Amino acid sequence: MNLAANHIYPVLWSEDKVLLIDQTRLPGEYTMVEISRSSDMAQAIKTMIVRGAPAIGVAAAYGMYLGSREIKTSDRAKFLQHLEAVADLLRQTRPTAVNLFWAIARMLRTAYEEIGTIDEIKITLLETAQTIQAEDLATCQAIGDHGLTVLPQTLGKLRILTHCNAGSLATAGYGTALGVVRSAWREQRLERVYADETRPRLQGAKLTAWECVQEHIPVTVIADSMAAHCMQQKMIDLVVVGADRIAANGDAANKIGTYSLAIAAQAHQVPFYVAAPFSTIDFDLVSGSQIPIEERDAQEIYQINDIDICAKGAEFYNPAFDVTPASLITGIITEKGVIKPDFLIDHRRAVA
Ligand code: MRU
Repeated sequence: MNLAANHIYPVLWSEDKVLLIDQTRLPGEYTMVEISRSSDMAQAIKTMIVRGAPAIGVAAAYGMYLGSREIKTSDRAKFLQHLEAVADLLRQTRPTAVNLFWAIARMLRTAYEEIGTIDEIKITLLETAQTIQAEDLATCQAIGDHGLTVLPQTLGKLRILTHCNAGSLATAGYGTALGVVRSAWREQRLERVYADETRPRLQGAKLTAWECVQEHIPVTVIADSMAAHCMQQKMIDLVVVGADRIAANGDAANKIGTYSLAIAAQAHQVPFYVAAPFSTIDFDLVSGSQIPIEERDAQEIYQINDIDICAKGAEFYNPAFDVTPASLITGIITEKGVIKPDFLIDHRRAVA
């Protein structure tokens, strides 16, 4: 992978181990966590040291390689059986982002198809993880550049609203939604990014704002509840968000709060785009209602920075994602171009 010195890479392969930017500590602390075992990688994904759909796919791919290194047998059938167990462990980390399952399946397929010795299979697995990572970086750059085609020409410099973090930190680098923002900034088409803070985990306030500040991209953080007001005040020209899984009918799961943003965008005639790689599309799911939605610990709701903020005795509900119906999505910006959600239905028919 061609690494630029001043860019943000959440997952790095270095000297026989994986280095992850600890995203739970940003923006206060920039620290790297060393991962040498598959179980530690599973834990890092679960606890969101690494997060964002494409980034957890890349991390899981390396997790599969680390797991293969731990298997001490020269018997091919036993090796594959143990590797399936590693895959199971990694699959149990986060249920919504399809990229995780896609990357694990690709790694398993690689192992089954490699006809060499066990050592050769292991080498091929490392190469495949590196390929997945390099492909994701190139994909994000292509998404960013295709995103330029949806920027209304009549408006000059644009004010773009985004939700959660779909940036370098959430991918192999560059980002999907923030990839569009980065390309717009490079082409001098961006006035400012509005970043929803994204309760409960604050990925917008903590991560998106941090990424923008690193690159001197003007960014204004707003509380999630302010987005509709900003649209009403004509402060937003375009919304771009990422996705964790897109069903075959174009319904898109993304961070909780995306759905209400899409409703507000439609009410104010603000174009609403989803930016995501093709690998985020799950053609096995007919509609968004089939996308598994992760529910996380209630502590994320009743505490901020480890301090209790809610009345004792209240109960909590903490879904991490919601599904935006295709009818609210203006277009999906992919590495192959911008598609209308209904394109997916025809595409599915074509591949079925
Ligand atoms: O819970 P997270 O932080 O992993 O959720 C991330 C998102 O919802 C992103 O928008 C999505 O994964 C796309 S990342 C390019």
